[in-house]
Amino acid sequence: MKFKYLIHEQRDLISVVYINRIKKLNSLNIGILEEINHLFKILKKDNSTRIIIITGKGDKAFVAGADISEFSNFKSKEGFNLSMKGQNEVFNFIETLNKPVIAAINGYALGGGLELALSCHIRIASKNSKMGLPETSLGIIPGYGGTQRLAQIVGRGIANEMILTADFIDADRALAIGLVSKVVSSEELIDSAIKMSKKILTNSPFAISKAIKAINFGFNHNKNGLKNEIKLFSECFDSEDFNEGTNAFIDKRKPKFKGR
Ligand code: COA
Repeated sequence: MKFKYLIHEQRDLISVVYINRIKKLNSLNIGILEEINHLFKILKKDNSTRIIIITGKGDKAFVAGADISEFSNFKSKEGFNLSMKGQNEVFNFIETLNKPVIAAINGYALGGGLELALSCHIRIASKNSKMGLPETSLGIIPGYGGTQRLAQIVGRGIANEMILTADFIDADRALAIGLVSKVVSSEELIDSAIKMSKKILTNSPFAISKAIKAINFGFNHNKNGLKNEIKLFSECFDSEDFNEGTNAFIDKRKPKFKGR
């Protein structure tokens, strides 16, 4: 199977999926999201895959966010569709997959990149990782489930702090707040994810799929939160602040927000 942006390696019953757009720090363009959707649908049914590890190619980034250049001209309607399609076809799809997905975070996991990791069932990170949801610095909010899943995983207070300050945190802080369950060196990251996968492989696949379903069941009330996130995310696209925030990123300057 050949993809433009993904590299897929099969290691016994473990699928390792690399996002490969190194020059743009693996930022998620539409092509990557479509390929993830396509590949994960195949892996869901593939009996030779029982666990999936997702990571970024290169030594700098897992994923540095959604591709800002792709949505900088969007208005609320396109913003709504971007968020809804992404949530349905990638982020919610991964979270509700019948097989465990481990995010091996190897560097920047920002915006849509952290949201991708948050959709996975387990997160481990390399020591050089930096994580954050910096969308408010661009004049938008997280739109791929970040407002809901970050709060579920680290609690509301720290989620508020991370989203409102737009700050990045390092791997040790991510471990301390429970955002990741393990921190290892960059060299050890994939081996460590494989080791964890092998442990999981000793357990019943049937029970594992039921456990994922049961754990997700406890958070079902957040479905409304996800829907509201799409609406609120899309509303940001009609603001002056959004134009200023995304243009400032593209022009490599600091934004001057006006609050409208
Ligand atoms: N969307 C589009 N392009 C991105 C991107 C994104 N989210 N993140 C990085 N890139 C591109 C840069 O524009 C740059 O492209 P260029 O070489 O053609 O100019 C390239 O990737 C390398 O990034 P650069 O900014 O030069 O690297 P850096 O080491 O100086 O900074 C970051 C790294 C991650 C701090 C910085 O790239 C960044 O802030 N990215 C955006 C993060 C973000 O806001 N994500 C949320 C989006 S919703």
